[in-house]
Amino acid sequence: MSDTGRDPSSSPDVTVVDHPLVRVKLTRLRDKTTPSGEFRRLVREIAMLMAFEATRTLATVIDRVETPMSGYEGKALAQPVIIAPILRAGLGLAEGMNSLLSDASTGHIGIYRNEETAEPQSYYLHLPPHVAEADVLVVDPMLATGGSAISAIGKLKEHGVTRIRFVCLVSCKTGIERLCAAHPDVPIFTAEIDPELNSRSYIVPGLGDAGDRYFGT
Ligand code: PRP
Ligand code: URA
Repeated sequence: MSDTGRDPSSSPDVTVVDHPLVRVKLTRLRDKTTPSGEFRRLVREIAMLMAFEATRTLATVIDRVETPMSGYEGKALAQPVIIAPILRAGLGLAEGMNSLLSDASTGHIGIYRNEETAEPQSYYLHLPPHVAEADVLVVDPMLATGGSAISAIGKLKEHGVTRIRFVCLVSCKTGIERLCAAHPDVPIFTAEIDPELNSRSYIVPGLGDAGDRYFGT
C-alpha cells in the first residue's frame, strides 16, 4: 500500500504481467552478478513477453487472404504501431519488442535524470511522421519517480498522439501513482511493482542503473 493508502496494482490502468517466465528472467536481471551480455539478452526476452500482453487489446480489422486451399478472413492491425524507447535504457526493450512487431516504426525520446534532483532533462526527440495516427508503445525498463515517463508521454501528446501505452519492467508505487495522475488515459504494463525509492530516487530492490548495466558503462 502506498502513502496515499491506494494499492497501485488494483488500478484498472495498471497491468502486472505476472508470468513465471517473466519472474524468472527478471530475477536474473536484478542479480548484480549478471554480466551485461546476459543482461541485454534478458531485457530483449522479457520485452517480447511484455509485448504480448501490452498489445492484447490493439484494434484489428478484417484482412482477407487466399491460402493455397481457399479464401480466409483473418485480421490485420487497424493502426500502425510505433515503439518509442526512452533513451538510453529503453533501447533494449524496443529491440525485443521489434522482434514481435516487425512492421513497427521507432520513435526516439532522449531524456536523462539529473543526478542531483532526479528531474528529467530532455535532449533529443525524433518521431516518425505518422505518429499521430499510430498506437504508441512507450518503453523504458524503469519507472521510478515517474518524471521521465510523464515528460516523454507529454511530448507525444504535444505531437497529437492519442493512443499511448507505457511498458516498463520494474516500477514502484510512487512512479505509478504520479504517472496515473499525470496521464490517466495511458495504461501501464509492468513486470513487477517494487515497494520503495531510496534517498537518491533509485528503486529498491530494483536492479540498479538500467542504462549503465545494459550498456556496460
Ligand atoms: C533511467 C530509466 C528511466 C528513468 C527512470 O534513465 O531508464 O528513463 O531513469 O527514472 P524516473 O522515473 O525517476 O524518471 P536514466 O536517467 O538513468 O538515463 P539513461 O537511460 O540514459 O541511463
Ligand atoms: N533509473 C534507473 O536506472 N534505476 C532506478 O532504480 C531508478 C532510475
